[in-house]
Order: sequence, then structure tokens, then C-alpha cells
Amino acid sequence: MSVLLIAGSPTARSRSAALLDAVALRLSVQGIRSERLSVRDVAPEALVLAQFDHPAIVAASAQVEKAQVVVVATPVYKAAYSGVLKAFLDLLPQTALKGKTVLPLATGGSPHHMLALDYALRPVLQSLGAKHILPGIYANDAQVTLSPEGAYTVHPDIGARLDDAAHILLSETLRPAHWAAGSFAPVDFSQVRCSV
Ligand SMILES: Cc1cc2nc3c(=O)[nH]c(=O)nc-3n(C[C@H](O)[C@H](O)[C@H](O)COP(=O)(O)O)c2cc1C
Repeated sequence: MSVLLIAGSPTARSRSAALLDAVALRLSVQGIRSERLSVRDVAPEALVLAQFDHPAIVAASAQVEKAQVVVVATPVYKAAYSGVLKAFLDLLPQTALKGKTVLPLATGGSPHHMLALDYALRPVLQSLGAKHILPGIYANDAQVTLSPEGAYTVHPDIGARLDDAAHILLSETLRPAHWAAGSFAPVDFSQVRCSV
């Protein structure tokens, strides 16, 4: 069961990437490891010149293909997601997200563009065939603090939303049987009684 974290910011010290770290931490304490793909590390010429057969794009596509869960994080740029993330997504196969669960994350300078995840990124994820797109999580810059040493803190409201998202990923996609075993045993359909 693999999780791929895609960092869509061109910036090295990145708030949106810190949200990915926060998701990775929540999954790792449950024993789930994740891989990371930073779009800023993908060969720039491949992105700008749309070189579908560039080794960096082939390798990145393979990473996406083997993931069961994809977490995509982006900064808001000009009321949408980052251009470099779009350049990357454009080079993936048309059904790159087929059958996968996707969690979209974004940070922005203000709360005004919090819907960018829904009106800009979500349709693209849908067009790539994502099976299940979780509700996106948006944080403004004041809610994600970066230290000069590279550490981060997230506002408790954002932390709670990340907890919920990690719980959904674990219980519905990554380890559904494990979570089911800890809650209710399966009930045979013949035993089900309707109250209407
Ligand atoms: C070129 C550029 C455009 C931006 N446009 C917006 C915007 O339209 N709306 C917004 O809320 N923030 C905007 N911002 C602020 C970033 O979204 C915000 O600082 C974000 O947290 C940066 O994420 P990162 O650290 O992962 O790159 C913009 C920043 C840059 C550099």
C-alpha cells in the first residue's frame, strides 16, 4: 500500500510542502510510509517543453502509477494552483490517477482563494481518473509557521482537519480491514433489519 506525496510548490521552504510533512507524520505513526515527489526537482526542460518521454517524467509517472493514495499540495498562485504543478500534471498519462484516492492540500496568502482547490485543482484530478477525491484542506499562511531550521507548526484547526483526512485514508483506503476488525464484525445481509 503506497502513498505518494506530490509537492507542487516551486519554493524550497514551502508551507504547502509542510502540510505534506504533516500528513506523512500522521500516516507514519500508524505504520504507513510514504514516498515524496517534489515538482521543483523534476527536470525543468521536461516541464517547459512538455517532454513526455523525458526520463524524469517517465520515472515520476511510474511513481504515480504504483501509488494507491496520492496527496497533492500546492500554493495558490493567482487564484489557482501553481503553474509548475499544472505543467507536471499535464505530462502524466490521461488515466494516471485511475482507481486512486487523492487528498488535495493548499496554502494561500489569504483566505480569499480557499475555493481554488475545488474550482481549479479538483476538475484536473477528476479528469485524470481519480476514484475518490477527499475534501481539500486549505490553510492560509498564518496557519502554517516555518522555522529557519526547517521545522513547521500548523494551527490546531488545520491539525484537526489533517487528523480527519489521515483517519479517512487509513480507514477507507490503506487499512480498511484493520480498522473494521477493531470496530464491528461483518454482519450477514440476511440479518439486516430495516426500520422503515
Ligand atoms: C506568484 C505568487 C502568486 C500568489 N498568488 C496568490 C493568490 O492569488 N492568492 C493567495 O491567497 N495567495 C497567493 N500567493 C501566496 C501563496 O499562495 C502563499 O504564500 C503560499 O502559502 C505559498 O506556498 P508555498 O510556501 O508552498 O510556496 C501567491 C504567491 C506567489 C509567489
